[in-house]
Amino acid sequence: MLEIEFHNREKEIQEVMRILNTRPDLITFAYGPINSGKTELFQHLIKTLPKEYKVFYINLRGIYVSKADDFLKVLFEVDEREYDFKEYLKVLIDYLPEKVALPFIGGIPVPKNLFKKFFEEKEFENVFKYIERLFLTLSEKFTPILIIDELQVIGDIKINGLLIYELFNLFIRLTKELHCCHVFAVTSDSLFIERVYNEAMLHGRCRYLLIDDFDYNTTKEFLEKYGFSQDEIDLTWNYFGGKPVYLVEAVKNKDRLKEFCEELLRLRIMEIKSLLKELRELGYTIRIKDKEYEVDYDKVITALNLFKDRDSIPLDSLDEITKHYLIKTNVLFLDPLKGIIKPQSHLDLLAIRSILKEITS
Ligand SMILES: Nc1ncnc2c1ncn2[C@@H]1O[C@H](COP(=O)(O)OP(=O)(O)OP(=O)(O)O)[C@@H](O)[C@H]1O
Ligand SMILES: [Mg+2]
Repeated sequence: MLEIEFHNREKEIQEVMRILNTRPDLITFAYGPINSGKTELFQHLIKTLPKEYKVFYINLRGIYVSKADDFLKVLFEVDEREYDFKEYLKVLIDYLPEKVALPFIGGIPVPKNLFKKFFEEKEFENVFKYIERLFLTLSEKFTPILIIDELQVIGDIKINGLLIYELFNLFIRLTKELHCCHVFAVTSDSLFIERVYNEAMLHGRCRYLLIDDFDYNTTKEFLEKYGFSQDEIDLTWNYFGGKPVYLVEAVKNKDRLKEFCEELLRLRIMEIKSLLKELRELGYTIRIKDKEYEVDYDKVITALNLFKDRDSIPLDSLDEITKHYLIKTNVLFLDPLKGIIKPQSHLDLLAIRSILKEITS
C-alpha cells in the first residue's frame, strides 16, 4: 500500500519551536485555509517533541456543545481513580515522565471525584482554577502545552455568557499572567480568526501563525518524492496549487493524473454552481452578530467577478454580508493579517473563473 509520509513544514515547525523555547507570554492562534495541513502539523509535532514537553490536545471537530456538561466532557480526560487535588498532582508528576512524549489526546486529566463535582456545579469557576493550578504545578518540572483544535466550534455557545470569552480569559491567565503553559488555538474558520483579530480583550495578548497550503518548491519536492516528472508537477500545481489534501490524492492517482485533475475541477464547479443556484432560487439568510441578513445573488456574482484576473483581493473589497456568505460556504478564505481575501484553494479559483465564463457567455 502507498504510504504518504509527513512532508516538510520546516518553516512552521521552526516558528513553533521558537515559541516553545521561550516563556509562555502570548496565546498562539494557528490559522489557515481548509485542508492546509494544520491538524497534521500539530499531530506531527506532538509525536516528535522532546519529553520535557507535555502536550494536552483537544479536538473540537464534530463535537456538539450546547451546555456546560458537553464542554466538560471534551475538556477533560477522566481518571477513574479518586484523589484529592494535591494528591493527584503528585501522582501526575510521578507518572508523567514515564509517559515520555505521549500526549494527553482527549483532554486534561482529572480524577473522577473532582470531575463529578465540576459536573454538579454547572459553572466554570472551579474548573478553570483547577486547570490553572494543574498547569502551574506541572510547569515546575515540565513544559505543558495546551492545543485546542477547531476552537471556532464553541465560538457562539452561550453558557452563562459567551463561553469563548471565559476560555480566552483562561488562556490569558495561563500565558501572559502565570506563564505556565503554552496555548495554541487552531482554526480553519477565517471569520472566527477575523473576530479574534478584532477582539479588544486579545489585543497585545496573542500572536498569529499562518499555516497555508504548500508553496511551489515544497509542492515540487513533495511530488518528486513520489516520482512525478516536471510536466506532472506543473499539471498538478496548475490545478491544485499546494493544497496538501489534493496533492496526496494526486499521488494516488498518478497513473491517470490529467483525468483526475479534470474530474476534481468538474466536481468543484458543480458544487459551487449548485450553491449559486440555490441562492438565486431559494435565497439565503445569514446570521451576523445575532442579526439575520438576506444575501444578494447579484452582489455575490459581482464579488466572484473580482477574481477574474486576480488571485486575491483586499479585505475591504466586499460588503459584510457577501463576505460572510462566501466564506461560510467555504468558497473564500480571509486572512486578517495580510488584509486579503482569496479562494480556499487554487481549484476553487479555477472553478470560480470557469463558472463566471459560463454566466457571462
Ligand atoms: N505536511 C504534510 N505532509 C503530508 N501530507 C499532509 C501534510 N499536511 C497535510 N497533509 C494531508 O492533507 C490532509 C489534510 O490535512 P489536515 O487535516 O491537517 O488539514 P487541516 O488544515 O487541519 O484541515 P481543516 O481545515 O479541515 O481543519 C491530511 O489528512 C494529509 O493527508
Ligand atoms: Mg484540522
